Amino acid sequence: MKINEIKIKTNSKNYSIIIGRNLIGKIDKILTKSKIDFEKCLIVADKNIPNRFKKVLYKKLRKKKLFKIEILPSENIKKYSTIDKIHKLLFQKRFNRTDCVISFGGGIIGDVVGFAASIFKRGIKFINVPSTLLSQVDSSIGGKTGVNNEYGKNLIGSFYQPDLVISDVNILGSLPKREIICGYAEIFKSSIINNYNNFNYLEQNLEKILKLKSPYIEKSILKSCNLKKMVVEKDESEKSFRKILNLGHTFAHSYESTLGFSKKLNHGEAVILGIKSAAEFSHNIKILPKKKLNIILNHINKIGMDPKIYKFFKKKDTDKIINFMKSDKKNNSKNINLILIKDFGKIKLNFHINHIILKKFLLNSLN
Ligand SMILES: NC(=O)c1ccc[n+]([C@@H]2O[C@H](COP(=O)([O-])OP(=O)(O)OC[C@H]3O[C@@H](n4cnc5c(N)ncnc54)[C@H](O)[C@@H]3O)[C@@H](O)[C@H]2O)c1
Repeated sequence: MKINEIKIKTNSKNYSIIIGRNLIGKIDKILTKSKIDFEKCLIVADKNIPNRFKKVLYKKLRKKKLFKIEILPSENIKKYSTIDKIHKLLFQKRFNRTDCVISFGGGIIGDVVGFAASIFKRGIKFINVPSTLLSQVDSSIGGKTGVNNEYGKNLIGSFYQPDLVISDVNILGSLPKREIICGYAEIFKSSIINNYNNFNYLEQNLEKILKLKSPYIEKSILKSCNLKKMVVEKDESEKSFRKILNLGHTFAHSYESTLGFSKKLNHGEAVILGIKSAAEFSHNIKILPKKKLNIILNHINKIGMDPKIYKFFKKKDTDKIINFMKSDKKNNSKNINLILIKDFGKIKLNFHINHIILKKFLLNSLN
């Protein structure tokens, strides 16, 4: 499969996403071609990425003044103290805005490093080398960066577009199956937002995509990135249309927060449960026909995780879930703002719902 380039044009920055195989070994050439230059570089890498990939990256950047931090990611490291650690090194080594910070990891590392880059001297060069399927199809693109706090997920952050994204499909080979399913959650979400043809491609090729077979995995990554490009270019700072990408996420973030971001439910798994809840709620309020609901639920059942919500939550958890939903960033009134499904390619934005009705729905799903 050839190397693909998607060019993103936003009000704040234009940049490329390069997608293909063996790209880490070509990073020096990609930087030259993209006209990205810098003297010093800090690589913040995920500890779980196999050393063979790190060695190649470090070797290819050996002509730069290179500094490294390695972090073991969890939602608990998405916090100010991690930002402080990154900034301390940048100040100690006298980085300026023309130097560069590279995130080499999944969505957690990318979100934190992107946020640190965005506020260091009001913005230093930032390159994202995503190492999980989820980060290649979603989090590395579009410029959302941030950290969590006790009030919920990603509540502190910025919109800060990277200067370049390099998605090397080979690096996905070392991901545990569970993490591939997490990335697939966002591919699945994109397909529902896109159209039925896009969804049907997943339906026909699910197994090959989950096994990372070429060209199915590359095509799926490209389709998701292209959808995100279209949305982000129209509404970079999520004034309205970009909320479409939050399909399933109001539920998902509350599910994760309720469990205290425990390993019991990863972000991508929460997204699968969230899409399921959004689809069922859409059917409940009669905007999604039963036939379409069943197509979505059948697909969810084939993904490879147990999607029964009652396996994760008890009825007594519903107040906690609702409270987290109330602090969601999309809300602008006392009601909770949901993104719902009318059909493949037809998403209902800004459905404001009273929390008492939502609580009843959640209690029913826990039966
Ligand atoms: N900014 C955005 O637009 C956006 C969009 C979606 C999700 N997110 C955020 O992304 C985060 C989830 O990202 P994620 O699913 O990538 O999780 P993650 O960063 O925790 O990575 C998942 C796991 O895979 C490991 N890993 C990473 N690369 C590996 C590799 N190549 N081989 C083996 N193991 C590897 C990690 O160490 C971790 O254990 C959440 O915090 C979510 O809020 C952000």
